[in-house]
Amino acid sequence: MPFATGDAVAGAKLFKTRCAQCHTTEAGGANKVGPNLHGIFGRKSGQAAGYSYTEANKNKGVTWTEETMFEYLENPKKYIPGTKMAFNGFKKDKERNDVITYLKAEC
Ligand code: HEC
Repeated sequence: MPFATGDAVAGAKLFKTRCAQCHTTEAGGANKVGPNLHGIFGRKSGQAAGYSYTEANKNKGVTWTEETMFEYLENPKKYIPGTKMAFNGFKKDKERNDVITYLKAEC
């Protein structure tokens, strides 16, 4: 199933509980354990300024879109073998649709 626009409010809650400990979304936001995600859509993997990525993330060379993010967030370690992102993925399509809808609006 491809990405479908979801519920941004539900996505905000998911981001807060599952992503925000490691990521910020605002312009100029801090890199935490993970990179700041501002401007992520349309950009290649591994490009956040001042963040030290693994070679695996940098060399993936994927352009982040709703579709690539949808696949990545199902199982990050499968999509980018060797990533240091410690998140096991959202198995439910709805969770990925909601969090991506939120990210599109916020980032
Ligand atoms: C425990 C910390 C942690 C959590 C939780 C986490 N991430 Fe990450 N994330 C990282 C790290 C670390 C990286 C960098 C991976 C690397 O360099 O191998 C990363 C990388 C990414 C990237 C790729 C960025 C780029 O510039 O290529 C995206 C997109 C992303 N995370 C989104 C999310 C989303 C959405 C969530 C919540 C569903 C999430 N992450 C949860 C730590 C985390």
